Amino acid sequence: MRPGPRGGTAVPATPVLTPVRVLGIETSCDETGVAVYDTATGLRAHALHSQARVHADYGGVVPELASRDHVRRAIPLIERVLDEAGLARTDLDAVAYTAGPGLVGALLVGAAVAQGLAWARRLPALGVHHMEAHLLAPMLEPEPPGFPFVALLVSGGHTQLVAVEGIGRYRMLGDTVDDAAGEAFDKTAQLLGLGYPGGPEIARAATAGRADAYRFPRPMTDRPGLDFSFSGLKTAARHALAGSDGGDRVRADIARGFEAAVVETLAIKCRRALEQTGMARLVVAGGVGANERLRAALSGLEGVRLYFPRHEFCTDNGAMIAYAGACRLAAGEKSPRRIGARPRWPLTELAPPAGP
Ligand code: KG4
Ligand code: ZN
Repeated sequence: MRPGPRGGTAVPATPVLTPVRVLGIETSCDETGVAVYDTATGLRAHALHSQARVHADYGGVVPELASRDHVRRAIPLIERVLDEAGLARTDLDAVAYTAGPGLVGALLVGAAVAQGLAWARRLPALGVHHMEAHLLAPMLEPEPPGFPFVALLVSGGHTQLVAVEGIGRYRMLGDTVDDAAGEAFDKTAQLLGLGYPGGPEIARAATAGRADAYRFPRPMTDRPGLDFSFSGLKTAARHALAGSDGGDRVRADIARGFEAAVVETLAIKCRRALEQTGMARLVVAGGVGANERLRAALSGLEGVRLYFPRHEFCTDNGAMIAYAGACRLAAGEKSPRRIGARPRWPLTELAPPAGP
Protein backbone atom coordinates (compact mmCIF):
# COMPACT_ATOMS: atom_id res chain seq x y z
CA MET A 1 0.00 0.00 0.00
CA ARG A 2 1.34 3.39 -0.96
CA PRO A 3 -0.36 6.13 1.05
CA GLY A 4 -1.90 8.44 -1.47
CA PRO A 5 -3.25 11.96 -1.46
CA ARG A 6 -6.85 12.68 -0.56
CA GLY A 7 -8.95 10.77 -3.09
CA GLY A 8 -11.22 12.62 -5.53
CA THR A 9 -14.19 10.30 -5.07
CA ALA A 10 -15.82 10.14 -1.66
CA VAL A 11 -16.16 6.55 -0.45
CA PRO A 12 -17.63 6.73 3.07
CA ALA A 13 -16.24 3.40 4.31
CA THR A 14 -12.65 4.27 3.39
CA PRO A 15 -10.66 6.39 5.83
CA VAL A 16 -9.53 9.64 4.24
CA LEU A 17 -5.77 9.91 4.06
CA THR A 18 -4.61 13.44 4.64
CA PRO A 19 -1.28 14.14 2.96
CA VAL A 20 1.51 14.13 5.51
CA ARG A 21 5.11 15.20 5.24
CA VAL A 22 7.11 12.99 7.54
CA LEU A 23 10.67 13.40 8.74
CA GLY A 24 12.21 9.93 9.27
CA ILE A 25 15.16 9.34 11.60
CA GLU A 26 17.09 6.05 11.74
CA THR A 27 19.70 5.46 14.47
CA SER A 28 19.30 1.80 15.45
CA CYS A 29 22.87 0.73 14.79
CA ASP A 30 25.82 2.29 12.97
CA GLU A 31 24.22 4.54 10.36
CA THR A 32 22.50 7.83 10.95
CA GLY A 33 19.77 8.05 8.29
CA VAL A 34 17.37 10.92 7.69
CA ALA A 35 14.68 11.43 5.03
CA VAL A 36 11.49 13.31 4.29
CA TYR A 37 8.61 11.32 2.79
CA ASP A 38 5.52 13.12 1.54
CA THR A 39 2.40 10.94 1.19
CA ALA A 40 1.27 13.13 -1.72
CA THR A 41 4.51 13.39 -3.69
CA GLY A 42 6.78 10.60 -2.43
CA LEU A 43 10.34 10.72 -1.18
CA ARG A 44 11.57 14.33 -1.05
CA ALA A 45 15.16 13.88 0.15
CA HIS A 46 17.31 11.47 2.09
CA ALA A 47 20.84 11.34 3.48
CA LEU A 48 22.99 8.90 5.37
CA HIS A 49 26.06 9.06 7.52
CA SER A 50 27.82 5.70 7.88
CA GLN A 51 29.94 5.04 10.96
CA ALA A 52 31.81 2.17 9.23
CA ARG A 53 35.15 3.94 9.77
CA VAL A 54 34.42 4.52 13.45
CA HIS A 55 34.01 0.77 14.04
CA ALA A 56 36.37 -0.65 11.40
CA ASP A 57 39.27 -1.28 13.81
CA TYR A 58 37.01 -3.30 16.11
CA GLY A 59 35.53 -5.63 13.45
CA GLY A 60 32.01 -4.85 14.71
CA VAL A 61 29.87 -2.07 16.12
CA VAL A 62 30.95 -0.58 19.47
CA PRO A 63 27.63 0.55 21.01
CA GLU A 64 28.95 3.54 22.97
CA LEU A 65 30.84 4.90 19.97
CA ALA A 66 27.71 4.44 17.87
CA SER A 67 25.55 6.47 20.29
CA ARG A 68 28.08 9.29 20.48
CA ASP A 69 28.37 9.52 16.71
CA HIS A 70 24.57 9.66 16.31
CA VAL A 71 24.55 12.57 18.79
CA ARG A 72 27.05 14.41 16.60
CA ARG A 73 25.44 13.62 13.23
CA ALA A 74 21.66 13.66 13.69
CA ILE A 75 20.88 17.39 13.72
CA PRO A 76 23.30 18.41 10.90
CA LEU A 77 21.89 15.57 8.78
CA ILE A 78 18.32 16.74 9.43
CA GLU A 79 19.29 20.28 8.40
CA ARG A 80 20.90 18.93 5.23
CA VAL A 81 17.86 16.83 4.25
CA LEU A 82 15.43 19.68 4.87
CA ASP A 83 17.68 21.93 2.82
CA GLU A 84 17.82 19.42 -0.06
CA ALA A 85 14.04 19.01 0.08
CA GLY A 86 13.62 22.81 0.05
CA LEU A 87 11.64 22.57 3.28
CA ALA A 88 11.71 24.27 6.67
CA ARG A 89 10.96 22.57 9.99
CA THR A 90 7.61 24.36 9.90
CA ASP A 91 6.71 22.44 6.72
CA LEU A 92 6.80 19.09 8.54
CA ASP A 93 3.60 17.37 9.70
CA ALA A 94 5.12 14.55 11.72
CA VAL A 95 8.30 12.83 12.81
CA ALA A 96 8.99 9.07 12.63
CA TYR A 97 11.97 7.42 14.28
CA THR A 98 13.27 3.92 14.83
CA ALA A 99 12.06 2.82 18.25
CA GLY A 100 13.56 -0.69 18.02
CA PRO A 101 14.92 -3.27 17.72
CA GLY A 102 18.55 -2.14 17.91
CA LEU A 103 21.24 -0.82 20.23
CA VAL A 104 19.53 0.85 23.16
CA GLY A 105 21.81 3.91 23.38
CA ALA A 106 21.71 4.49 19.64
CA LEU A 107 17.91 4.15 19.59
CA LEU A 108 17.55 6.59 22.48
CA VAL A 109 19.50 9.26 20.58
CA GLY A 110 17.08 9.05 17.65
CA ALA A 111 14.07 8.95 19.97
CA ALA A 112 15.27 12.02 21.87
CA VAL A 113 15.97 14.01 18.72
CA ALA A 114 12.64 13.03 17.14
CA GLN A 115 10.55 13.67 20.25
CA GLY A 116 12.40 16.95 20.87
CA LEU A 117 11.65 18.23 17.37
CA ALA A 118 8.06 17.06 17.66
CA TRP A 119 7.56 18.66 21.09
CA ALA A 120 8.93 21.97 19.87
CA ARG A 121 6.56 22.10 16.92
CA ARG A 122 3.65 20.23 18.53
CA LEU A 123 3.83 17.51 15.91
CA PRO A 124 3.00 13.83 16.30
CA ALA A 125 6.03 11.56 16.66
CA LEU A 126 5.81 7.87 15.89
CA GLY A 127 8.20 5.12 16.97
CA VAL A 128 8.71 2.76 14.02
CA HIS A 129 9.74 -0.91 14.05
CA HIS A 130 13.06 -1.16 12.21
CA MET A 131 12.27 -4.52 10.55
CA GLU A 132 8.82 -3.39 9.43
CA ALA A 133 10.55 -0.45 7.79
CA HIS A 134 13.02 -2.81 6.06
CA LEU A 135 10.27 -5.00 4.68
CA LEU A 136 8.30 -2.01 3.40
CA ALA A 137 11.38 -0.45 1.73
CA PRO A 138 10.55 -1.93 -1.73
CA MET A 139 7.40 0.22 -1.63
CA LEU A 140 9.68 3.19 -2.32
CA GLU A 141 10.52 1.76 -5.76
CA PRO A 142 8.64 2.49 -9.00
CA GLU A 143 6.98 -0.97 -9.09
CA PRO A 144 6.10 -1.77 -5.49
CA PRO A 145 4.84 -5.23 -4.51
CA GLY A 146 1.19 -5.80 -3.69
CA PHE A 147 0.14 -7.86 -0.65
CA PRO A 148 0.47 -10.68 0.24
CA PHE A 149 4.16 -11.53 -0.07
CA VAL A 150 6.91 -13.51 1.61
CA ALA A 151 9.66 -11.29 3.00
CA LEU A 152 13.21 -12.48 3.49
CA LEU A 153 14.69 -10.12 6.07
CA VAL A 154 18.46 -10.49 6.06
CA SER A 155 20.46 -7.98 8.03
CA GLY A 156 23.23 -7.80 10.61
CA GLY A 157 20.80 -8.65 13.41
CA HIS A 158 18.05 -10.67 11.69
CA THR A 159 17.49 -13.55 9.31
CA GLN A 160 13.78 -14.13 9.06
CA LEU A 161 11.16 -15.35 6.63
CA VAL A 162 7.86 -13.58 7.18
CA ALA A 163 4.45 -14.01 5.56
CA VAL A 164 3.16 -10.47 5.04
CA GLU A 165 -0.60 -10.10 4.51
CA GLY A 166 -0.59 -6.32 4.96
CA ILE A 167 0.99 -3.61 7.08
CA GLY A 168 1.18 -4.97 10.62
CA ARG A 169 -0.05 -8.42 9.59
CA TYR A 170 3.03 -10.57 9.94
CA ARG A 171 3.42 -14.31 10.46
CA MET A 172 6.88 -15.61 11.30
CA LEU A 173 7.76 -18.55 9.06
CA GLY A 174 11.40 -19.00 9.98
CA ASP A 175 14.13 -17.40 12.06
CA THR A 176 17.78 -17.95 12.83
CA VAL A 177 18.61 -20.13 15.81
CA ASP A 178 22.03 -18.46 16.24
CA ASP A 179 23.87 -15.88 14.09
CA ALA A 180 22.09 -13.67 11.58
CA ALA A 181 23.34 -13.95 7.98
CA GLY A 182 24.94 -10.47 8.08
CA GLU A 183 26.56 -11.26 11.40
CA ALA A 184 28.06 -14.43 9.86
CA PHE A 185 29.40 -12.34 6.95
CA ASP A 186 30.91 -9.84 9.40
CA LYS A 187 32.52 -12.47 11.66
CA THR A 188 33.87 -14.51 8.76
CA ALA A 189 35.29 -11.38 7.15
CA GLN A 190 37.05 -10.59 10.39
CA LEU A 191 38.66 -14.02 10.62
CA LEU A 192 39.76 -13.73 6.97
CA GLY A 193 41.40 -10.40 7.80
CA LEU A 194 38.93 -8.44 5.67
CA GLY A 195 37.35 -5.11 6.61
CA TYR A 196 34.07 -4.13 8.23
CA PRO A 197 31.20 -4.36 7.30
CA GLY A 198 32.06 -7.86 6.21
CA GLY A 199 29.31 -8.53 3.64
CA PRO A 200 30.58 -6.27 0.87
CA GLU A 201 34.20 -7.23 1.71
CA ILE A 202 33.48 -10.96 1.38
CA ALA A 203 31.54 -10.36 -1.84
CA ARG A 204 34.51 -8.44 -3.25
CA ALA A 205 37.07 -11.04 -2.16
CA ALA A 206 34.87 -13.86 -3.49
CA THR A 207 35.03 -12.55 -7.05
CA ALA A 208 38.72 -13.61 -7.11
CA GLY A 209 37.96 -17.01 -5.52
CA ARG A 210 37.34 -20.33 -7.27
CA ALA A 211 33.83 -21.76 -7.13
CA ASP A 212 34.94 -25.35 -6.54
CA ALA A 213 37.79 -24.87 -4.04
CA TYR A 214 35.66 -25.16 -0.88
CA ARG A 215 32.20 -26.60 -0.41
CA PHE A 216 30.80 -25.58 2.95
CA PRO A 217 27.57 -27.04 4.42
CA ARG A 218 24.11 -25.63 3.60
CA PRO A 219 22.94 -25.62 7.25
CA MET A 220 19.49 -26.98 8.13
CA THR A 221 18.50 -27.60 4.51
CA ASP A 222 18.53 -31.39 4.94
CA ARG A 223 15.47 -31.33 7.19
CA PRO A 224 12.03 -29.75 6.89
CA GLY A 225 11.43 -26.29 8.28
CA LEU A 226 12.31 -22.69 7.57
CA ASP A 227 14.73 -21.86 10.37
CA PHE A 228 18.35 -20.93 9.75
CA SER A 229 21.67 -21.49 11.50
CA PHE A 230 24.83 -19.74 10.35
CA SER A 231 27.29 -20.05 13.23
CA GLY A 232 28.58 -23.45 12.02
CA LEU A 233 29.49 -21.95 8.64
CA LYS A 234 31.74 -19.41 10.28
CA THR A 235 33.44 -22.27 12.19
CA ALA A 236 33.82 -24.24 8.94
CA ALA A 237 35.53 -21.20 7.40
CA ARG A 238 37.84 -20.95 10.42
CA HIS A 239 38.86 -24.63 10.10
CA ALA A 240 39.45 -24.22 6.36
CA LEU A 241 41.74 -21.26 7.01
CA ALA A 242 43.62 -23.07 9.78
CA GLY A 243 44.29 -26.02 7.47
CA SER A 244 45.68 -23.84 4.67
CA ASP A 245 48.72 -21.66 3.94
CA GLY A 246 46.55 -18.65 4.81
CA GLY A 247 47.50 -16.83 1.60
CA ASP A 248 45.39 -14.40 -0.41
CA ARG A 249 44.34 -17.12 -2.86
CA VAL A 250 42.97 -19.34 -0.09
CA ARG A 251 41.19 -16.42 1.57
CA ALA A 252 39.47 -15.57 -1.71
CA ASP A 253 38.49 -19.24 -2.17
CA ILE A 254 37.06 -19.41 1.36
CA ALA A 255 35.16 -16.15 0.83
CA ARG A 256 33.69 -17.61 -2.38
CA GLY A 257 32.73 -20.90 -0.71
CA PHE A 258 31.24 -19.12 2.31
CA GLU A 259 29.19 -16.69 0.23
CA ALA A 260 27.92 -19.53 -1.99
CA ALA A 261 26.82 -21.52 1.08
CA VAL A 262 24.90 -18.59 2.63
CA VAL A 263 23.29 -17.66 -0.68
CA GLU A 264 22.20 -21.21 -1.56
CA THR A 265 20.85 -21.79 1.94
CA LEU A 266 18.79 -18.60 1.78
CA ALA A 267 17.51 -19.47 -1.71
CA ILE A 268 16.47 -23.00 -0.67
CA LYS A 269 14.52 -21.66 2.31
CA CYS A 270 12.88 -18.92 0.23
CA ARG A 271 11.65 -21.47 -2.27
CA ARG A 272 10.26 -23.58 0.58
CA ALA A 273 8.53 -20.59 2.16
CA LEU A 274 6.87 -19.68 -1.13
CA GLU A 275 5.73 -23.26 -1.66
CA GLN A 276 4.44 -23.51 1.90
CA THR A 277 2.43 -20.28 1.75
CA GLY A 278 1.37 -20.55 -1.89
CA MET A 279 2.50 -16.95 -2.34
CA ALA A 280 4.13 -15.80 -5.57
CA ARG A 281 5.83 -12.57 -4.48
CA LEU A 282 9.16 -12.45 -2.66
CA VAL A 283 10.50 -9.28 -1.05
CA VAL A 284 14.14 -9.27 -0.01
CA ALA A 285 15.18 -6.57 2.43
CA GLY A 286 17.99 -5.77 4.85
CA GLY A 287 21.71 -5.25 4.28
CA VAL A 288 22.48 -8.75 2.94
CA GLY A 289 19.81 -8.09 0.28
CA ALA A 290 22.43 -5.91 -1.40
CA ASN A 291 24.44 -9.06 -2.22
CA GLU A 292 24.60 -9.58 -5.98
CA ARG A 293 25.01 -13.36 -5.83
CA LEU A 294 21.95 -13.61 -3.60
CA ARG A 295 19.98 -11.49 -6.06
CA ALA A 296 21.12 -13.70 -8.95
CA ALA A 297 20.23 -16.92 -7.09
CA LEU A 298 16.76 -15.68 -6.15
CA SER A 299 16.11 -14.44 -9.69
CA GLY A 300 16.38 -18.09 -10.69
CA LEU A 301 13.31 -19.09 -8.64
CA GLU A 302 10.59 -20.03 -11.09
CA GLY A 303 7.12 -18.48 -11.00
CA VAL A 304 8.22 -15.90 -8.43
CA ARG A 305 8.06 -12.13 -8.76
CA LEU A 306 11.03 -10.65 -6.92
CA TYR A 307 11.18 -7.25 -5.24
CA PHE A 308 14.32 -5.61 -3.90
CA PRO A 309 14.80 -2.10 -2.63
CA ARG A 310 17.55 -0.20 -4.45
CA HIS A 311 20.97 -0.97 -2.89
CA GLU A 312 21.12 2.08 -0.65
CA PHE A 313 17.69 1.22 0.80
CA CYS A 314 18.68 -2.41 1.52
CA THR A 315 21.05 -1.29 4.25
CA ASP A 316 19.83 0.97 7.06
CA ASN A 317 18.44 4.30 5.89
CA GLY A 318 16.08 7.09 6.88
CA ALA A 319 13.80 6.73 3.84
CA MET A 320 12.33 3.42 4.98
CA ILE A 321 11.63 4.87 8.43
CA ALA A 322 9.94 7.95 6.96
CA TYR A 323 7.89 5.70 4.66
CA ALA A 324 6.81 3.18 7.33
CA GLY A 325 5.99 6.06 9.67
CA ALA A 326 4.01 7.82 6.94
CA CYS A 327 1.91 4.69 6.31
CA ARG A 328 0.95 4.44 9.96
CA LEU A 329 0.59 8.18 10.59
CA ALA A 330 -1.61 8.56 7.50
CA ALA A 331 -3.89 5.93 9.03
CA GLY A 332 -4.10 8.03 12.18
CA GLU A 333 -1.74 6.06 14.41
CA LYS A 334 -0.30 7.87 17.42
CA SER A 335 2.63 7.16 19.72
CA PRO A 336 2.93 7.99 23.41
CA ARG A 337 4.75 11.26 24.07
CA ARG A 338 7.80 9.75 25.75
CA ILE A 339 11.42 9.05 24.96
CA GLY A 340 11.82 5.31 25.00
CA ALA A 341 13.35 2.46 23.02
CA ARG A 342 12.71 -1.25 22.57
CA PRO A 343 16.06 -2.96 21.92
CA ARG A 344 14.21 -6.27 21.55
CA TRP A 345 10.89 -6.03 19.80
CA PRO A 346 9.42 -9.05 17.97
CA LEU A 347 7.97 -8.08 14.59
CA THR A 348 4.95 -10.30 15.25
CA GLU A 349 3.88 -8.04 18.14
CA LEU A 350 2.90 -5.39 15.61
CA ALA A 351 -0.72 -4.85 14.62
CA PRO A 352 -2.21 -3.09 11.60
CA PRO A 353 -2.18 0.72 11.85
CA ALA A 354 -4.44 1.90 14.68
CA GLY A 355 -6.67 4.69 13.42
CA PRO A 356 -7.91 7.66 15.45
O1 KG4 B 1 20.24 -3.83 7.40
P1 KG4 B 1 21.62 -3.46 7.79
O2 KG4 B 1 22.26 -2.26 7.16
O3 KG4 B 1 21.73 -3.24 9.34
C1 KG4 B 1 21.07 -4.00 10.27
O4 KG4 B 1 19.88 -3.72 10.53
O5 KG4 B 1 21.71 -4.97 10.73
O6 KG4 B 1 22.53 -4.76 7.51
C2 KG4 B 1 23.90 -4.75 7.76
C3 KG4 B 1 24.47 -6.11 7.37
C4 KG4 B 1 25.94 -6.26 7.75
O7 KG4 B 1 26.10 -7.47 8.45
C5 KG4 B 1 26.63 -6.29 6.41
O8 KG4 B 1 27.83 -7.06 6.41
C6 KG4 B 1 25.58 -6.88 5.51
O9 KG4 B 1 24.37 -6.31 5.96
N1 KG4 B 1 25.79 -6.54 4.09
C7 KG4 B 1 26.03 -7.45 3.13
C8 KG4 B 1 26.23 -6.74 1.92
N2 KG4 B 1 26.07 -5.40 2.19
C9 KG4 B 1 25.80 -5.31 3.53
N3 KG4 B 1 26.12 -8.79 3.20
C10 KG4 B 1 26.41 -9.46 2.05
N4 KG4 B 1 26.63 -8.84 0.87
C11 KG4 B 1 26.55 -7.50 0.76
N5 KG4 B 1 26.76 -6.91 -0.43
ZN1 ZN C 1 18.62 -2.82 9.44
